[in-house]
Amino acid sequence: MTHDPLIALRPWEAPEVTSWGRLPMNAVDRRSGSLPQDGDWRFQLLSRPDAPVGGSWSPAPVPGVWTMQGTDDLPQYLNVRMPFTEFPPLPPAENPTGVYEREVDVPADWAGRRIVLQVGAAESVLLVHVDGRPVGISKDSHLAAEFDLTGLVAPGSSSTLRLTVVKWSDASHIEDQDQWWHGGITRSVLLYATDPLHLADVTVRAAYSGELRVDCRVREAGGALPEGWYVSGDLDGLPLTQDAEFDRLNAEDERVSDFLGEARMRTVVPDVRTWNAETPELYGLTVRLHRADGTVADTSYHRIGFRDVEIVGRDLLVNGERVYIRGVNRHDFHPLTGRTVSYDDMRADLVLLKRFGFNAIRTAHYPNDPGLYDLADELGFYVVDEADIESHDHAHEIADDPRYLNAFVDRVSRMVLRDKNHPSVIIWSLGNESDYGANHDAAAGWVRRHDPTRPVQYEGAAKLGWADPGVASDIACPMYAPLEDCVAHALSGEQTKPLIQCEYSHAMGNSNGTLADHWAAIESTPGLQGGFIWEFWDHGILQRVSDGRPVGRGGAGLYDNGVAAPGYRWAYGGDFGERLHDGAFIADGVVFPDRTPKPVMYEHREIAAPVRIETYRHEGIVLGNHQHFRGLDWLSGTWELSLADGRVLTAPAELPDLRPGQTAAVPLPFALPVDGGEAWLTLRITTARDEAWAPAGTVVCLPQVRLREAVPGGSVDPANRFSSAPVEVDFSSAPVQVDFSSAPVQVDADGLLVHPLLTAAPALSLWRAPTDNDELGGMALRWRSWGLDALVRKVVDVRRDGDRVTVLAEYAAEVGVVRHVQVFTPVEGGVRIEESAELPDALADVARVGSVFETVPGLDLMEWYGPGPWESYPDRSGGAPVGHHSVPVDDLFTPYLRPQESGGRHGVRHFRLSAPDATGLTVALDEPRQVSVTRYRAADLSAVAHHDQLVPRPGCVVHIDAAHRGLGTASCGPDTFPSYLVAPGVHRWSWALRVL
Ligand code: GAL
Ligand code: MG
Repeated sequence: MTHDPLIALRPWEAPEVTSWGRLPMNAVDRRSGSLPQDGDWRFQLLSRPDAPVGGSWSPAPVPGVWTMQGTDDLPQYLNVRMPFTEFPPLPPAENPTGVYEREVDVPADWAGRRIVLQVGAAESVLLVHVDGRPVGISKDSHLAAEFDLTGLVAPGSSSTLRLTVVKWSDASHIEDQDQWWHGGITRSVLLYATDPLHLADVTVRAAYSGELRVDCRVREAGGALPEGWYVSGDLDGLPLTQDAEFDRLNAEDERVSDFLGEARMRTVVPDVRTWNAETPELYGLTVRLHRADGTVADTSYHRIGFRDVEIVGRDLLVNGERVYIRGVNRHDFHPLTGRTVSYDDMRADLVLLKRFGFNAIRTAHYPNDPGLYDLADELGFYVVDEADIESHDHAHEIADDPRYLNAFVDRVSRMVLRDKNHPSVIIWSLGNESDYGANHDAAAGWVRRHDPTRPVQYEGAAKLGWADPGVASDIACPMYAPLEDCVAHALSGEQTKPLIQCEYSHAMGNSNGTLADHWAAIESTPGLQGGFIWEFWDHGILQRVSDGRPVGRGGAGLYDNGVAAPGYRWAYGGDFGERLHDGAFIADGVVFPDRTPKPVMYEHREIAAPVRIETYRHEGIVLGNHQHFRGLDWLSGTWELSLADGRVLTAPAELPDLRPGQTAAVPLPFALPVDGGEAWLTLRITTARDEAWAPAGTVVCLPQVRLREAVPGGSVDPANRFSSAPVEVDFSSAPVQVDFSSAPVQVDADGLLVHPLLTAAPALSLWRAPTDNDELGGMALRWRSWGLDALVRKVVDVRRDGDRVTVLAEYAAEVGVVRHVQVFTPVEGGVRIEESAELPDALADVARVGSVFETVPGLDLMEWYGPGPWESYPDRSGGAPVGHHSVPVDDLFTPYLRPQESGGRHGVRHFRLSAPDATGLTVALDEPRQVSVTRYRAADLSAVAHHDQLVPRPGCVVHIDAAHRGLGTASCGPDTFPSYLVAPGVHRWSWALRVL
């Protein structure tokens, strides 16, 4: 039995107790002038919170999570299910509890001052003791907790600070977000001192009109109303002064001895530079609290932006403009530290997002590190700030449970109190996946009263009906809604709220199919305003393969380009020996765990292009400015004309002076050569000068238009067109035996092409290593049940007709036989292969129909004409401009965490694979085809769970697909559209293989 009152209270199983002894949240930034307490603390891990402290101490860095710092309590990944079976509000009895201790030297010149401890974030219950005395309790794992230590510590001497962090609690049930479970102190700890009478909060309202209002709340514990004290402000040199006496907020109550008062400052800034995500103009506001003699007692610095947010009709307007929300969901994540992120990390995240056309962030699913909002203000992002409430596994029980009422209002209100002065924050979110109940309405009510300047959203409430007038959501913010439902709603005449999906286009593995289709619909359907892709990060934790341990902070340099160094890997659910886990569902971001962009990022960059080629008309190229606020003067352009025959012409582009929404025709910069075949014009848009997020010369977008189609019939290689008669072969007569030894086309007795550069002859492929979407969407299961992963080729007939060899093979799937015909004809330097495959109707919706072959080693460079250089698929191909591309074969493969179909290139017209001595092969295709060249067979990829288990083959595995299924997003959300599916029936394709 413990005598410690904080322990005796058992706050880890009392949802009503959200805090004890904790100071109110506020927006005064105390980071500067504070005494940082980051660094090594003494640490021990108890098996339960009421276990005695007394074991041995070892050093642990703060901030940090012990689950990544060498303890036996390792990270665990679960999506919805709680990691323990206890019902809310109970945690399990076995409950890892970290005890952190250190001596703090309190400066002597803090005598007479108010001394405050700030713990940036601790999960999930924090107990604070100083010199063995209880100080306070806090829950709410992603917001800071402050405690007044005045009187508990002595200036000029040292005190022992103990922070006890209990991992599981009643609060865990409302922190059931889809991410790794950790335990520890994830954000910085600091001490600061103020005058006893201090700025307790500052609330800034800065409107688009230039009107500025600053409300300053001051407080003194046990003090009296001071004579002559006042506040002043300074807005980048423009002085502000208090416009009336302090309003004594508690003046009515004789019993209250504290002074709590409010003073206001107002001004109107002439010719104000307003804030928006494109031109995030900030002003520096310094607020000072003065003593009667004018000396400064307290200061608070804010970077503020003048802007309005409102909903008018069904449109969300920023400064009167219906802005598109090109958003992403972002967790605080790092592959070495788990959840502790540095300012530089966050800056790198946001810079990358900016470079790829994103303008919005949802802080999924809790208030992010404070630095994130500073950066969003500075770099220009619209932020949906989300409270730390997700009760996914027990959503229904908790939404109306009065024991959790405090926690809901506490978490939402503390977020608003902290972040209200950030211009980037345009919407408050009440949390995620917690059903919908009275606790939400209570929180929404608090926000509406406290901050009427921003809309509130909550997906759980919006789910009731996108036009439902209920109080908890001003935005229709569904997740993964089918596009057709969104469009139908916008066209229904019933829409009352902006439709902005809080999550869409699930980025798990090789995914984000139909993103461009979504945006085509959004930009052409009034009422649709965008959404937030799920999600930014693949949360892979860097793990040593030998002992299965997280590497932790020392791992910098052990990864590159999305791939962990040999001996290491990106761990996902189950890799730490978790009994319960949700596997690779944690790897669903648009960037790899080291922030390397996945190919979808290039697709997004083009979708978000600020300048676009609208059309090509006889008077020239029509350009449009697709921004909301900015002209084109910050951009430079270069024209690039790419001809199928390999020629590329370039010329500088004069960008017209266009206001947002305007278009103008500019003359064609080149006389289009009469020859050369298909011609594509690309406008390479780069930053003209340094932006906060990109140096001058950074690519912003690559809009493209086709100026001329391929020669009639569509091919650059007329020799390679299908003979006008389709391949219809009558195999009813007896096969003819031919001696191929002298023939220019050599086919062995099995009808397989014999070729000096091929180690495996072209065969039919109907299978791809299932993507996460294929697996979780159920397609892979169906394909396996049809036997498509292990089809056996049976040669039925081989015959020669002059120099033409025809091979018929059959592949018996469970639901019918696929007939495959190959006709080989010699052409100059090689062989032309005409193929057809007939899929029975039962084989509807297969992964691909095409040829697969393998080459000898050494052909390590791939050059092609078609979209590139990035990976592209039929429903994710818009971000790759058509041109001549050259990429080492090893770099064509995208190392998705769980190996799967990868490295495809859509719309390839022809390609060559060569060795350094320029020997090799070329393939000319009858029409643009999906091609992939990698070191892996589909079976190699689907046999392993991690990238490090793959053994590259020395040669190339080449797929040429007549049809390839779109990627869709079915791992969580809609599948691809029917137009991207592979239909049954007859598929025909042809190609010419030549030796270089
Ligand atoms: C949503 C949820 C996210 C994540 C995502 C799937 O339902 O809000 O937290 O779980 O699905 O990756
Ligand atoms: Mg969830």
